[in-house]
Amino acid sequence: MSILRYQKPNVKTLNKNYFDNFKTELTVFSPGRINFIGEHTDYNNGFVLPTAIDKKIFFSFKKNESKKQCNIYSKNYDAFLTIDLDNVLPSEEEWENYILGVIKELQKRNATIEGFDCIIESELPIGAGISSSAALECGIALGLNSLFDLQFPSEELIKLSRDAEHNFVGTKCGIMDQFAVVMSKEEHALLLDCESLQYELIPVDIYPYKILLLNTNISHNLATSEYNKRREECEAGIEIIKKKYPAIDSLREVTFPILEEVKSDLSATVYNRCKYVISENTRVIEAVEKLKEGDLKSLGKLMYQSHEGLRDLYNVSCAELDFLVDFTLDHEQILGSRMMGGGFGGCTINIIHKDYTKKYIEEVSSAYKKAFQIDLTAIEVNPSGGTYVERH
Ligand code: GLA
Repeated sequence: MSILRYQKPNVKTLNKNYFDNFKTELTVFSPGRINFIGEHTDYNNGFVLPTAIDKKIFFSFKKNESKKQCNIYSKNYDAFLTIDLDNVLPSEEEWENYILGVIKELQKRNATIEGFDCIIESELPIGAGISSSAALECGIALGLNSLFDLQFPSEELIKLSRDAEHNFVGTKCGIMDQFAVVMSKEEHALLLDCESLQYELIPVDIYPYKILLLNTNISHNLATSEYNKRREECEAGIEIIKKKYPAIDSLREVTFPILEEVKSDLSATVYNRCKYVISENTRVIEAVEKLKEGDLKSLGKLMYQSHEGLRDLYNVSCAELDFLVDFTLDHEQILGSRMMGGGFGGCTINIIHKDYTKKYIEEVSSAYKKAFQIDLTAIEVNPSGGTYVERH
């Protein structure tokens, strides 16, 4: 990544009239996402089952008089980001990089962006594994697409938002988060084929059960480096498999007999990573069948298996997440539980009976506090529609 970093301007003069003169031209609502199952499969060309949620980031956009200067205010950080469009470079601040990265990717695709102002307010916790980052990237991308009538199709905006994260943040993420944030539909999950980007909308009809996220409020800073390492380990597996099977390009195409055949050529770690990914892909397809049949118990079992794989084979869980999943095991009102997202902290996703939710939150919060001296946050969510733009 470039070591040139942009210089922070003096924003004191900006603040004075910024809010008084703010005449919103468009509002953007960009949601977080959950994932029922299919973790770390997206960058292996596999399957995922995410959906957007009813918790969002809100953006107000307007053009300003300038050709080159953009002034973005984050209410949550109470901070301004001022951008010179002739000089878009990575920043020291992570939240700024999601925005700068998207603008750079738009510019790379010859988009004509001029000066704009934007106010951002988020109800998504950061580092919770519900993709506040993709919500931010996609909100900026769809907002600018509309403000400057850039006419990029949704799929391109999704891809360039992902590229922004690769190039400005340094996480070599897959496409799941951005896709779910933009394309989701209310009351549905997306069965996404991350190779073809074809998807099927699966109704999420789980009444009297609910989706409950439990946020560990832990975000181990291993997340980015370990994430990229997992991706490299999967790629290393493919390189070796390719020697015998040159037509294979991703773990998506690898079967268990093939994996067993090459086992002695793989390190134990790489073997475990591959085994996890192949099993997880199968689980996603099964989970969709179970969801369609209304067989929530079987769906729940698959979620537990997913967690075990992430914990024991993929090694992306942590003590706090394992505690929360284990705690559900004696509670029959919870059908399934697993860690969600990249790992090393963030939330578990739980399928829980609606009548039991309140009592369970009290019980698990107190046990978690006792074990880790950390407050747990419970977030009830519903499958919702993707990012949308409202013109004023
Ligand atoms: C993060 C990444 C996604 C995906 C998940 C793990 O959320 O951004 O692309 O790989 O981790 O499933």
